[in-house]
Amino acid sequence: MELILLGPPGAGKGTQSKLLETRYGVAQISTGDMLRAEVKAGTPIGLEAKNIMDAGKLVSDDILIRMIGERIKHPDCAKGFILDGFPRTVPQAEALDKLLHEQAVDLDAVIELKVDEAILVERISGRFSCAKCGAGYHDKFKQPKVQGVCDVCGGTVFTRRPDDKAETVHARLEAYNAQTAPILPYYKAHGRLFTVDGMAEMDQVEAEIEAILRGLGVEAA
Ligand code: AP5
Repeated sequence: MELILLGPPGAGKGTQSKLLETRYGVAQISTGDMLRAEVKAGTPIGLEAKNIMDAGKLVSDDILIRMIGERIKHPDCAKGFILDGFPRTVPQAEALDKLLHEQAVDLDAVIELKVDEAILVERISGRFSCAKCGAGYHDKFKQPKVQGVCDVCGGTVFTRRPDDKAETVHARLEAYNAQTAPILPYYKAHGRLFTVDGMAEMDQVEAEIEAILRGLGVEAA
């Protein structure tokens, strides 16, 4: 299965792609996570990306296209992958088509998660994650079962992303509307675009995505 999850910051791309990764046995590829790992490791890409990400802007197409070109060749992508956060511009979408063509791979679907802006801001500003294993939580929507203890690994230290501050969230939404939303007509013209109500409960969103995939003949592992 080769799938793209598209949507503004906070739409639930990461949440849903992690659920689908487990159910379909394919690799989840988050370009945001890949860039944050570069920043943490202090690599040349990370040093270039840090200020851009902190300002809520997009990192250059050249860097992202190179990163994805290498990533989808990894053995864990042999059964397919879910792209979370890529493509984000029309040049990235065009480059992805070329990369997939070179590997004789067809895109099954592009699924857009649609969420109103006011809800996005609330979702992003309440988000935090376990510093040890990265499991995601939310002040209002998804608290750990035991206050202050990660459900997954038992970690007790939690972090918030530097780009989740209210002022940066608005810059990220602007970048989405100006640079990423224009790729929706691109995929619509190719007959691959499906839209899901991202404001529904998490398990309802997951069920809707699975129904789309089933309709395309893609079954869970
Ligand atoms: P990235 O990490 O991709 O961030 P993003 O697109 O802004 O998306 P988020 O991770 O904020 O949100 P999400 O849609 O994954 O939502 P989530 O599931 O966490 O990118 C960060 C930066 O890296 C970019 O700004 C850019 O600088 C750079 N970058 C990355 N890719 C790039 C590219 N291709 N080109 C150029 N630059 C690039 O959900 C949010 C919260 O809501 C969570 O707390 C969750 O629990 C909750 N939630 C989720 N679903 C629901 C639901 N249905 N109901 C209630 N709560 C929900």
